[in-house]
Amino acid sequence: CELYAVIGNPIAHSKSPIIHARFAEQTGERIEYRRLLAPVDGFNETVRAFVAAGGRGLNVTVPFKLEAYALADRLSPRAAAAGAVNTLRFDRDGIYGENTDGVGLVADIETNLQVSLSGASILLLGAGGAARGAVLPMLERGPCRLTIVNRTAEKAEALVEQFAEAAREAGCALSGGAPAAAEPVPYDVIVNATAGSLTAEVPECDGRAFGAGTLAYDMMYGAQPTVFMRHAQALGARISDGLGMLVEQAAESFWVWRGVRPASAPVLAELRALLT
Ligand code: ATR
Repeated sequence: CELYAVIGNPIAHSKSPIIHARFAEQTGERIEYRRLLAPVDGFNETVRAFVAAGGRGLNVTVPFKLEAYALADRLSPRAAAAGAVNTLRFDRDGIYGENTDGVGLVADIETNLQVSLSGASILLLGAGGAARGAVLPMLERGPCRLTIVNRTAEKAEALVEQFAEAAREAGCALSGGAPAAAEPVPYDVIVNATAGSLTAEVPECDGRAFGAGTLAYDMMYGAQPTVFMRHAQALGARISDGLGMLVEQAAESFWVWRGVRPASAPVLAELRALLT
């Protein structure tokens, strides 16, 4: 039986243990998956002790994704682009850092919600860590139009610059800046990657960007729809929260560790039922 955990602070409410327990049951992989509380100033020490105790991999959550990035000996291209790591794997070659959050978002939108990102017009709200992690996986889906807007325009502009070459290679039109840079016509997909839902604030965005053909996706989730989701629904859009992203990023982490792909749909259904 090999040992894994999710590390964060706080960690008591993490749903990762139940998700990975289900994945292990499904696939017959013999793993044990725990919660690991690290002191805010003790991330590296806690990881070292976990590895010394036989730990093979970690999911990393708030507030340690940047420290995990710094700790990794090797980074995947997605982790390098995101500037953050949510999945660590410990093996003979040292500490490998991956970021599965963006891939999880894309899988939820395309597989679970059945909305293709290839060829889509996409509006990304926010330019923090969550937004940055989503950009490369979205560009990797093929030609699209991606607009990144943020309350602090310079941060969106910096992302547009960082990903300009990747966008060119993917055949994507990438632009962005202040919230006013959003076009006043309906987008196919709008992703809320701001932290606004934590404080029940809707990020500034032209109402004309939402239409009947729009999927409005909030990376946050809870028992009730977020204020962003209610706002989008009132403007006629189809809505989703980020629970599916949580399950899909976990499935991708499981793949990174075990080389086996679990089925996410039944686990998502179970979590949804637990949430409501
Ligand atoms: P995370 O890792 O969750 O992305 P972050 O890196 O602190 O967290 O980024 C938070 C993002 O949410 C930023 O884009 C932030 O906008 P600023 O760059 O202008 O600070 C955005 N954000 C937070 N609260 C917001 C609000 N009330 N309205 C709009 N954007 C908000």
